[in-house]
Amino acid sequence: MRSALERGLHDAATFRAALSDVAPVDRDSWLDLVLDLPEPPADEHQLPRGCVPYLPCSVETLLHAVDGASITASDVFVDVGSGLGRATALVHLLTGATATGLEIQACLAQESRKLATRLRLARVTTLEGDASSPATPMPRGSVFFLYCPFSGERLARLFETLEPLARAEPLRICCVDMAAPECAWLSPHAAPSENLRIYRSTKRA
Ligand SMILES: C[S@@+](CC[C@H](N)C(=O)[O-])C[C@H]1O[C@@H](n2cnc3c(N)ncnc32)[C@H](O)[C@@H]1O
Repeated sequence: MRSALERGLHDAATFRAALSDVAPVDRDSWLDLVLDLPEPPADEHQLPRGCVPYLPCSVETLLHAVDGASITASDVFVDVGSGLGRATALVHLLTGATATGLEIQACLAQESRKLATRLRLARVTTLEGDASSPATPMPRGSVFFLYCPFSGERLARLFETLEPLARAEPLRICCVDMAAPECAWLSPHAAPSENLRIYRSTKRA
């Protein structure tokens, strides 16, 4: 199955059609097989307090994010806390968007780079760093995706970092299993599923 899919892997419409042919309940294992994902390495002992360990977001939620945020090939999708690079690879394959991961755990960042190289996904990259630290340069993007990487003060700092980016261009922010902090420059846009909220930056940014 994998080699047949690999022939159409780089065409977004073909990839989406192949995924749509799979029953929703089987889509996560299908994706793991197609990407030939390794077992995730154990989370690092020194994962800073308040940082959530690796857990992949479900394909169904990512499909809701892609459709609810209207992600297209002209977008730059940034996964804040990108783990193995599964979400960045999937969103790129479904839409053609450039996709960037930002991950604090070196071993996960390394595995996601290996994945992008193996699948020849030249527009999928991963940076290593603490997304909640103002010292970490935040990649430019038009759509930011957060599957609950951290909360509280770390989350507030991240949104402070995003505000100047929202002044440069309109942002969409997808939050899974979490809400964005109250920000004057952000307003709710959609809630396509129970666990997903999508926000848009406003002109006030
Ligand atoms: C729940 S997992 C989500 C993984 C990925 N977004 C996905 O959906 O497949 C949270 C990820 O955030 C990473 N993370 C936690 N704190 C972080 C931080 N301060 N900066 C960057 N990444 C962080 C964790 O290492 C983990 O890979």
